[in-house]
Amino acid sequence: MPQDGTVNPENGKSTPIVPKPGQEAGKIRAMFDSIAFRYDLLNHLLSGGTDIAWRRFAVKHLLRGGEKRVLDLACGTGDLALELKRRTDPRCEILGVDFSAGMLRLAHKKTATPAHQDRPIHWLQGDGLRLPFPDNSFDLVTIAFGIRNMESLDGALEEIHRVLRPGGRLGILEFSQPENRLVRTLYMPYFLHVLPRIGALLSQRTAYLYLPFSVLHFPDRFELAKKMRQSGYGRVRHCPLTLGIAALHMGDKK
Ligand SMILES: C[S@@+](CC[C@H](N)C(=O)[O-])C[C@H]1O[C@@H](n2cnc3c(N)ncnc32)[C@H](O)[C@@H]1O
Repeated sequence: MPQDGTVNPENGKSTPIVPKPGQEAGKIRAMFDSIAFRYDLLNHLLSGGTDIAWRRFAVKHLLRGGEKRVLDLACGTGDLALELKRRTDPRCEILGVDFSAGMLRLAHKKTATPAHQDRPIHWLQGDGLRLPFPDNSFDLVTIAFGIRNMESLDGALEEIHRVLRPGGRLGILEFSQPENRLVRTLYMPYFLHVLPRIGALLSQRTAYLYLPFSVLHFPDRFELAKKMRQSGYGRVRHCPLTLGIAALHMGDKK
């Protein structure tokens, strides 16, 4: 897997500069800006529509009822926030925060219809490591396929902890690495080689090389749960989704 912008001496071709996960926020933001226009299509295509089911599953399991204010962090084009809106009480306020203006523009477009005017979702541009909210602001913070891209996992967990009210819940939906050997053997060639090719064909090569690269560099399910506990979350639980290709983690602020 190429990791930098080096030139291959054999054919003179340069490999794309793939942002290093957890290091270069500016590059990562620019990357998401540049893939925003085809983001939803590629998501549904590359996952065979499973991403929709994962978001539904996450929202269904994270909500306890009675939430008054919910934040979907790294909201991207807004699909998880929209699912939250569908499943919460009409009095619950929903906010979506992302640092990519390109992704937010698409989220905004989805809710710029008369059907959404009675209960708008508030889309805000902001950094997950420096959230523009006071302490103890939210009953639930969700983050889907976003925390892996942040400069500091610990920093993000702590910042989310700060804005959650005591007892408030964090839900993380994220790609994971299948633990079963047979599943890995079958899935990894697709994830490492086929997926980036389809991404390159329909969207942008670098971003779809970055995706598997960043997942391989992200803590596994058990390590992520440990980090959540270390950051002050209690009742930390996690479950694999679709043979461990993704996972849902949840924990409550003590
Ligand atoms: C793979 S997309 C996921 C989008 C959406 N949550 C979904 O379920 O499809 C990751 C998103 O995280 C956002 N992101 C990454 N780092 C961020 C940060 N530090 N602060 C805010 N957003 C960030 C990106 O701009 C991008 O929209």
